[in-house]
Amino acid sequence: MDSVIAVIGTGYVGLTTGACFSRLGHTVVCADVDESKIARLRGGEIPIHEPGLEEIVRDGVQAGRLTFTTDVNEAVANAQFAYLCVPTPQGADGSADLTYLVAAAEQIAPYLPSEAVVVNKSTVPVGSTRTVEQALGRSDLFVVSNPEFLREGSAVHDFLNPDRIVIGSDDQGAAIRVASLYLNVPAPVMVTDPASAETIKYASNAFLAMKLSYVNAIAALCEAVGADADDVMLGMGYDSRIGNKFLRPGPGWGGSCFPKDTKALHFLSAQAGYSFDLLDAVLEINDAQFERVTAKIASVAGGSLEGARIAVWGLTFKANTDDRRDSPAIEIVRRLVAGGAVVRAYDPTVKGDLPEVDGVQVADDAYAACEGATVLAVLTEWDEFKWVDLDKVAATMADRRIVDARNLLDRGALLRRDFVHEGIGR
Ligand SMILES: NC(=O)c1ccc[n+]([C@@H]2O[C@H](COP(=O)([O-])OP(=O)(O)OC[C@H]3O[C@@H](n4cnc5c(N)ncnc54)[C@H](O)[C@@H]3O)[C@@H](O)[C@H]2O)c1
Repeated sequence: MDSVIAVIGTGYVGLTTGACFSRLGHTVVCADVDESKIARLRGGEIPIHEPGLEEIVRDGVQAGRLTFTTDVNEAVANAQFAYLCVPTPQGADGSADLTYLVAAAEQIAPYLPSEAVVVNKSTVPVGSTRTVEQALGRSDLFVVSNPEFLREGSAVHDFLNPDRIVIGSDDQGAAIRVASLYLNVPAPVMVTDPASAETIKYASNAFLAMKLSYVNAIAALCEAVGADADDVMLGMGYDSRIGNKFLRPGPGWGGSCFPKDTKALHFLSAQAGYSFDLLDAVLEINDAQFERVTAKIASVAGGSLEGARIAVWGLTFKANTDDRRDSPAIEIVRRLVAGGAVVRAYDPTVKGDLPEVDGVQVADDAYAACEGATVLAVLTEWDEFKWVDLDKVAATMADRRIVDARNLLDRGALLRRDFVHEGIGR
């Protein structure tokens, strides 16, 4: 049965959620307090880089099932469901800051029809279902947890083909109503209590961060003992208990979720009386990785960053997104500049300047970034970097030296052209 859904917060998660629900046949109003974002969406422009999103937004709009508004009252006035997709950033003490969530709940409370279900899709700590209930202050509404597991860069695919749909509710009827929204989505639906649903989301993200820190630690060991981390990971990945995903060494993990969610889980655990020491190590290894990669670049540059001309490929936290929030690439660029390097960077989604770090020049293409550089650092795994003309890169650089923090480039092809090529873990 098709439903009327209001989405509060039209960012990476909210826009994907709204567009995908409209694709599933529901009628969706996406609301946001950001007027320019809504104006762009109304003008047919997609404010984020996300493969496949433009098409389903266009289809939803054309079919009359997807609209955008800055008027939250209007958005929820006829809604059977209100999805909260607002930010839950890291607070000063590492906890999740629920200010946006509570404000959004308070804002919509007077306008929601009776019996509406308010759904937490934002990533929130245990107890937040109750927090939203209190902020709404109405006994004729339901609050359900329905955490989101999509990955930026494949958000549409992940929303429509998730590994699982998790619904946390103490009310069976409300849980079934939320489950029914996903009727045509081929995925197991798991209904549990709100605390378990909330924990599943944090536990999953922190586990993935742990896996990446483990991989980077093994890569450091590989460098020390003369093993090849890529082969080690390949060999590990054949073990079905380990699995072959998330087994690539890199410059450290980041993005808008893993850092804040890992810290929030750590905080939540401490508050609950459990000292989650494993997560301390996960975070420390990641911080050390930024430094290891920076030191590797300095070493390849001849021992010092002072005055070194470094080309950087990739600024987003991973490929296929324009998201630079907590990007490892930005973190490393910051360290390069702090060390005195002259950085010229290219990323397919960045034009003009780079507000995060003063003094970085942004190039129009991968070759332009290399002009006069003595070292090229590959920091994000964009596909296009795999297909560059290496002879042109060689001719453009002042020196043929590459630090490939994603183990992305064809090492054989580089060595044949007399490049010094340093990867991670080999
Ligand atoms: N980005 C991801 O990959 C991802 C994946 C899973 C879960 N999450 C979680 O989803 C939540 C949202 O993340 P995001 O990346 O989409 O954030 P975002 O910053 O891209 O979008 C949030 C939007 O909410 C809007 N907003 C804030 N307060 C509002 C209000 N009162 N009314 C209406 N709009 C309001 C903001 O203007 C912004 O456009 C977070 O809790 C995040 O942890 C994110």
